[in-house]
Amino acid sequence: MKPISLTRFLIEEQHAGFINADLRLLIEVVARACKTISTAISKGELGGVLGGAGTGNIQGEAQQKLDVLSNEIFLEANEWGGHLAGLASEEMEHSHPIPNAYPKGNYLLLFDPLDGSSNIDVNITVGTIFSVLRCPDGITEPEDEHFLQPGSAQVCAGYASYGPSTMLVLTTGRGTHGFTLDREQGSFVMTKRDMKIPDETKEFSVNSSNQRFWETPMQTYVDDMLKGKEGPRGRDFNMRWIASMVADVHRIMTRGGIFSYPLDSKCRDKGGKLRLMYEANPMSFLIEQAGGAASTGRMRMMDVQPTGLHQRVPVFMGSKTEVETAVKYHLEFDAKNA
Ligand code: AHG
Ligand code: MN
Ligand code: MN
Repeated sequence: MKPISLTRFLIEEQHAGFINADLRLLIEVVARACKTISTAISKGELGGVLGGAGTGNIQGEAQQKLDVLSNEIFLEANEWGGHLAGLASEEMEHSHPIPNAYPKGNYLLLFDPLDGSSNIDVNITVGTIFSVLRCPDGITEPEDEHFLQPGSAQVCAGYASYGPSTMLVLTTGRGTHGFTLDREQGSFVMTKRDMKIPDETKEFSVNSSNQRFWETPMQTYVDDMLKGKEGPRGRDFNMRWIASMVADVHRIMTRGGIFSYPLDSKCRDKGGKLRLMYEANPMSFLIEQAGGAASTGRMRMMDVQPTGLHQRVPVFMGSKTEVETAVKYHLEFDAKNA
């Protein structure tokens, strides 16, 4: 197969009637913003973009310079194109309606401009995650409540992974496709059509320093994997944790595995660690479109009815059979303790 560019892929999807011109433009603009972020990141220390910004976001997290810069890049790129009605970001307390000076479109864009911030200063892969929803009919100045749609309502989701090469992984509901940035050409080129996550896995991804804070079913689930061949799972497992959701999920997207950030007693009051609207939901859409599964441990992620822009959830996603196994541990425990 002759490699095709993201632009050609999107135009062909439009001609075939699967996406409209506005969504195509939106994805092109997002891809361009990701290229700009990629360029800034790849300069590293030379670009003067490393280190803390000296500010905090609404979630009480210290912002890195690149968190702030990436957020600005996304806002600036997406405001004036006429394809959006509003934006929402991890780095902004409230959603941002498109100013009246610009034409408005029918889509809402949610994003985590820089995912895995703790890895920026140590030159390890970080990413960007985004999710696209329709603006409800008749709304021209969307407010936070208009963004609170379940993951199943997403029309598009994707992430950029800023690793040894920069990749854009995308779905519009017709499979999950991977594009690699050709820096000389300045364009994303399709390198993986219809990604498929292996059903079974021997690899799990979790921050096990939180083990003593986990719920009992999670403790049992991981204990059973650690028992290996001699344990109830009957095989040895490997473990990987990069602490960039994008990088961990990208590995799973490529070779299978299960990614989890479960509920623990430290984050219980907040509902979890990872955010539903711009982390869990877009990743779940991509994972499901690649044949995998995504759950809170108790229900399908994309069926969760959101109640807040920055709502947090427990996350289990990846190889279908393995996610189902993790869910089984939780549901059986709940049933016994009901
Ligand atoms: P962000 O940098 O956007 O705040 O997200 C970081 C997230 C996620 O990418 C990663 O999986 C997780 O936080 C890492 O958490 P720990 O540092 O607790 O391992
Ligand atoms: Mn994140
Ligand atoms: Mn972030």
